[in-house]
Amino acid sequence: MIELILPSHVAASEAFRDPLGAVLFPSERRLIEKAVDSRKREFTTARLCARKALGMLGLPPRPILPNDHGAPQWPEGVVGSITHCAGYRAAALARTTDVMLLGIDAEPNLPLPKGILESIALPEEQRRVRRMRRVAPEVHWDRLLFGMKECVYKSWYPYTGQRLEFEDADISFDAGVATFTAQLRLPHDPPRRPSTDRLEGRWLAHKGLLITAISLATTSPCKAGDGVSSAAAPPGVHIR
Ligand SMILES: CC(C)(COP(=O)(O)OP(=O)(O)OC[C@H]1O[C@@H](n2cnc3c(N)ncnc32)[C@H](O)[C@@H]1OP(=O)(O)O)[C@@H](O)C(=O)NCCC(=O)NCCS
Repeated sequence: MIELILPSHVAASEAFRDPLGAVLFPSERRLIEKAVDSRKREFTTARLCARKALGMLGLPPRPILPNDHGAPQWPEGVVGSITHCAGYRAAALARTTDVMLLGIDAEPNLPLPKGILESIALPEEQRRVRRMRRVAPEVHWDRLLFGMKECVYKSWYPYTGQRLEFEDADISFDAGVATFTAQLRLPHDPPRRPSTDRLEGRWLAHKGLLITAISLATTSPCKAGDGVSSAAAPPGVHIR
């Protein structure tokens, strides 16, 4: 389902359960040999998804190892993102000739624990969450906002090398067309800056999950969110 909120030139693969017998490269296996079982499973299935997505781009399987800040390292000329939560794993990849920034996130459609919204959301974001609760109560907007912020971070960090705090992105969102916009408020310039600090993404509520995606095109860097403009977003993307 994640392909519904990604442009067609992004290769995406997802899994709703962990297949038996999925194989890791030795370098990957070493990374998680001491991890708990649930971590081993999410790590392994996400790598399976990532290798399927590499295959869709015509690239051979390879180990997918994290850098010092946890970001997955892709082959030269590839940008990508990984997500996992209970009952869902996914990877999305694209050629850097097509996509500059790419981030995906999945969260359960469940409320955040008490007190967390206040610690991750700006006052105006908290107001938007309260308003949207009245409009569409079947979506846990506090959790969705959290996922949007994680998605922003996962798209921004690999390109810019800049870590973001939760208050560095001011996110507004829409129920009808299932889009969101993140206006970054950066305390200092990143080492490498894309041409915009306004990212547009899309979200999807389906099967008890809240999925978010940001894809910023390389070819028209002034236009944020290739294929994610509200005009292009099908209204049916928000599925209960
Ligand atoms: C890194 C982080 C974004 C992961 O998000 P999450 O919702 O907890 O977990 P997910 O399962 O969706 O994603 C995990 C994957 O993110 C990827 N990831 C980790 N660090 C990353 C980074 N710095 N940049 C990009 N991707 C990263 C990894 O691929 C990881 O999976 P893996 O360890 O199996 O390879 C989150 O743990 C974090 O550190 N957040 C704080 C920073 C932040 O979000 N600030 C808000 C900015 S507005």
